Amino acid sequence: MTTASDNSAAKCYALVPCAGVGERAGAGGPKQYREIAGTTVVAHTLAALARVPRVAKTLVVLAADDGEFAARAPAFAGWADPCGGATRAGSVAAGLEALARRGARDRDWVLVHDAARCLVRPSAIERLIDACIDDAVGGLLALPLSDTLKQAGEGERVAQTLDRSGKWTAQTPQMFRLGLLRRALAQAGDNITDEASAIEALGHAPRLVRGEPDNFKLTWPADFALAERLLRTTP
Ligand code: CTP
Ligand code: MG
Repeated sequence: MTTASDNSAAKCYALVPCAGVGERAGAGGPKQYREIAGTTVVAHTLAALARVPRVAKTLVVLAADDGEFAARAPAFAGWADPCGGATRAGSVAAGLEALARRGARDRDWVLVHDAARCLVRPSAIERLIDACIDDAVGGLLALPLSDTLKQAGEGERVAQTLDRSGKWTAQTPQMFRLGLLRRALAQAGDNITDEASAIEALGHAPRLVRGEPDNFKLTWPADFALAERLLRTTP
């Protein structure tokens, strides 16, 4: 069916996977609900997305048994859907279906952003949108690798030094059109750790957009103190 809204400009939605258990953080509860610098990790993340005017709406993917989100992010004004899966890829795929149910179209853009990357700056998200909005494929925030890269072997000893030239580490947001990302994730299965790799598997080359080192993913116990320091000292 063709409607007037089908012809309107593509919108940008944000999709925030927030259904993980945070095993590596070892905090005894989902890391996205830990308090740092006065509020929770996910509340910082959602506040950053809310400061980007081109993001029309944000959908947060929660675990089916989540009973905390509303209390941990009381200012959130978007959609929350308890459709989380067993893996991050599963949660993102379910989130895309939830967006489609709420009216997002195949050509609309989706910015997938980890709940656990609470230091993302609105200016970096704007830069990603600027770089991708007229692109045929889409892209991601990423950083050129600065350290020398080692392949570990037996007993945490170096087996090999890898060539770091031309290597980047992938961050989020990752921005792709809903229809393409849906197809890509359906083919890629559950083992991928980011959206771009699913898009790459279809033969496309996502655009690398320079991110910032602050936008790291809170993963290990020590990451929380660093994030707290940065949040308290960054304007
Ligand atoms: N995530 C999700 N659904 C899952 C697994 C992860 O929505 N089944 C989300 C997390 O909540 C997080 C983001 O994906 O915001 C990035 O994942 P990761 O850092 O791996 O978080 P966890 O899976 O929670 O942590 P860990 O792997 O240490 O258990
Ligand atoms: Mg994980």
